Amino acid sequence: QQTLYFSRHGESEFNVIGKIGGDARLSPRGRLYAKALANHIHALNLPGLQVWTSTLYRTKETGAGINVPQQHLHELDEIWSGECESLTYEDLQDQFPKELALRDNEKLKYRYPQGESYIDVMARLVPVLTQLECETNVLTISHQAVLRCVLGYFLETPHDEIPYIHVPLHTIIKLTLRGHSYNMETVKMPI
Ligand code: F6P
Repeated sequence: QQTLYFSRHGESEFNVIGKIGGDARLSPRGRLYAKALANHIHALNLPGLQVWTSTLYRTKETGAGINVPQQHLHELDEIWSGECESLTYEDLQDQFPKELALRDNEKLKYRYPQGESYIDVMARLVPVLTQLECETNVLTISHQAVLRCVLGYFLETPHDEIPYIHVPLHTIIKLTLRGHSYNMETVKMPI
């Protein structure tokens, strides 16, 4: 039976102040989640477990306590918001109101200036998704927008709903293949 695990990184210093993108480290709370995640995953004793993260500090720090082979993949990096990197949504409203309105109107197709759209993220994820489909017991630690695309793919979510999939922090998501479709379970860590 194929099982795949997913998690966002623990809370980052940018999550705390509401900034998007960037390459921030984990917050103290995020570090607590990394410990809880490692304990939870170790206790499952999953044969052949691998951890795949993005190349950004916050996902690597989240997986660092798990003693299994790790890969850090650019394809799993968060949506690149180009000129809007490291801004808050309030900064966006002040500095790029037209962009924000365009994004609200068509979030799936909207591409940040010099950055990416959800469609772009889905395209760059194809090789990783194809590989994941042939694996079992991989824990993928990535980011909100990327995990929306990944879950949307496995759960066959209509494309325009993908940018709104709820992927909370500090929650482990397990997908199990049952016949031709995936069943999703979540475990919220009490942090
Ligand atoms: O706020 C955390 C974050 O991962 C940002 O880095 C990213 O830009 C954003 O979420 C993606 O979510 P949304 O597409 O809803 O802005």
